[in-house]
Amino acid sequence: MQFALPPRRNLDAPLHGRSSRLSLQRRKQLKAAAILGFALLVIYFLLSQLFYSSTGTPAAPAGTPSLVIVTVLDRARWSRDYIQRITKNRDDYAKRHGYTNFFANLTDYEPTLDNAPRSWSVVPAVRHAMASHPHSKYFFYLDAHALIMNPSKSLESHLLQRSHLDSLMLKDVPVVPPDSIIKTFSHLQPQDVDLILTADNEDLSSGCFVIRQGDFAQTFLDIWFDPLYRGYNFAKAEVHALDHIVQWHPTILARLALVPQRTINAYSKDSSGAGVDGNYKDGDLVIRLFGCDTDTKRSCEKEMEPYYRLWSKTIEK
Ligand SMILES: *[C@@H]1O[C@H](CO)[C@@H](O)[C@H](O)[C@H]1NC(C)=O
Repeated sequence: MQFALPPRRNLDAPLHGRSSRLSLQRRKQLKAAAILGFALLVIYFLLSQLFYSSTGTPAAPAGTPSLVIVTVLDRARWSRDYIQRITKNRDDYAKRHGYTNFFANLTDYEPTLDNAPRSWSVVPAVRHAMASHPHSKYFFYLDAHALIMNPSKSLESHLLQRSHLDSLMLKDVPVVPPDSIIKTFSHLQPQDVDLILTADNEDLSSGCFVIRQGDFAQTFLDIWFDPLYRGYNFAKAEVHALDHIVQWHPTILARLALVPQRTINAYSKDSSGAGVDGNYKDGDLVIRLFGCDTDTKRSCEKEMEPYYRLWSKTIEK
């Protein structure tokens, strides 16, 4: 009973004196108190579990969208036309499947970034969307420079349904391309997945992912947005922070499904760095103009135009 060492003064007292008997009694009391305290803790824990499971997932109010598409728009820098195309394309998709859109504004997050690159705004935007839609289950973050090209595909049938997700999950492969020694878990079950990511040729993709609302999401987003990472000057900002977190925290890896890039993140032919079979093909859900905003020789608006026209024809049919 190391924790019940007698008080200092008893150390100087004779071993078989009155104080030693007293300290024996005291030890018994302490032991009883410790047992009682432990029992109370256990009861409290059990009760809180009971309480949590009965009220932890309150029924969502009628009409709650199951899925929220999160987009960050830079209204200060992009043309009204361009923004209209992005929003129209996503509104159409959301309407077809009972989803809703959360169009976040970059300028709302700029003050919280502490001068970190603007691409970091993905994290507060997803958090903001979750706070605004507390009953929605899934959040699909999709970089603004992308179009939904196959709107008839729902995210449930295409990705989220357990059996489907199970068949898509890339197990026991390097989590960060091309050859990270950390591999995705081979025994992961689809029901344990809280985060669905893709990777391109070089990194995990922070521009397109699905995350499930809940404790994990809160923890993960907090870790990702840690000032330490934001201030670290990773060459690729939040992308490298993501690569880092996933490789160093098995807790996160244990909730992560990596799926083939084209499932939700197909790159246009002008985008560099697509992974193996990562370039857009007819019928893919999404086309992403990856890098069009950072490469000064490219123009997102120009690149989107032909795909937007193609999409407009699709929905007229
Ligand atoms: C972003 O700005 C637009 C236009 O000012 C506004 O309608 C919209 O509600 C804003 N989005 C959010 C999430 O605050």
